[in-house]
Amino acid sequence: MRKPVFGGNWKMNKMVKESIEAVKQLKEELGDVERVEVAIFPPFTSLWAVKKIIEDSRIGLGAQNMYWEEKGAYTGEVSPHMLLDAGCKYVILGHSERRQYFGETDAGVNRKIKAALSLGLTPVVCVGESLKEREAGRAEEVVESQVKKCLEGLDLQQIKKLIIAYEPVWAIGTGKIATPHQAQEMHSFIRGILEELWGKKICSSMRIQYGGSVKPENIKELMKQPDIDGALVGGASLIINSFVKIVKYEE
Ligand code: PGA
Repeated sequence: MRKPVFGGNWKMNKMVKESIEAVKQLKEELGDVERVEVAIFPPFTSLWAVKKIIEDSRIGLGAQNMYWEEKGAYTGEVSPHMLLDAGCKYVILGHSERRQYFGETDAGVNRKIKAALSLGLTPVVCVGESLKEREAGRAEEVVESQVKKCLEGLDLQQIKKLIIAYEPVWAIGTGKIATPHQAQEMHSFIRGILEELWGKKICSSMRIQYGGSVKPENIKELMKQPDIDGALVGGASLIINSFVKIVKYEE
């Protein structure tokens, strides 16, 4: 069945030295983890240093964003080729903070997904509604539109390589968490959209992570839901003990 996947999104936190210390501890605790997949998403400046530490472990490395071009006059951007070169296997695309503060659109995320896939990077594609949208009863409509626009034009081979992260914007960094029931409802809705477009066979094996104030205290209930296949963890991943507890939710 689907192997749960846990990501630690450090966002704009941790200097190189702090990243090294954190990831050394992470490697000690989770370096040979097999039951689940684990990926860590440090800031760009720490990627290479972190890679050096985890390269002989089962922990994967990912970046928090990228541009779609290979190289050229794009000041301030990082290409998928550069991410591969730095040792990345995953890349988060379309995170709500990118959409909110940096004007990212579904169309841009779509181009990034295609560029990442063409090089063999695994995109972690984030979708999720705002509080206003949920309160207006538009959560499903918004998420459906994001999923369809972000994944437009992908073929079966491409689609099966993706990880989707459902992150309700109102639950990110707020301490408010979707109830396991609310999360399950949306995960199953998303899987339904995927199955409709790409068929049941492929999409029943795709992983959909939940993200938004995930903590050691709430992960167990979330993971009991049939369509929740792991978590994208922000705040709690900065403290390695917490992140390890989340990953080892069954123990
Ligand atoms: P949070 O962030 O766990 O701090 O809510 C999750 C995310 O943004 O990926």
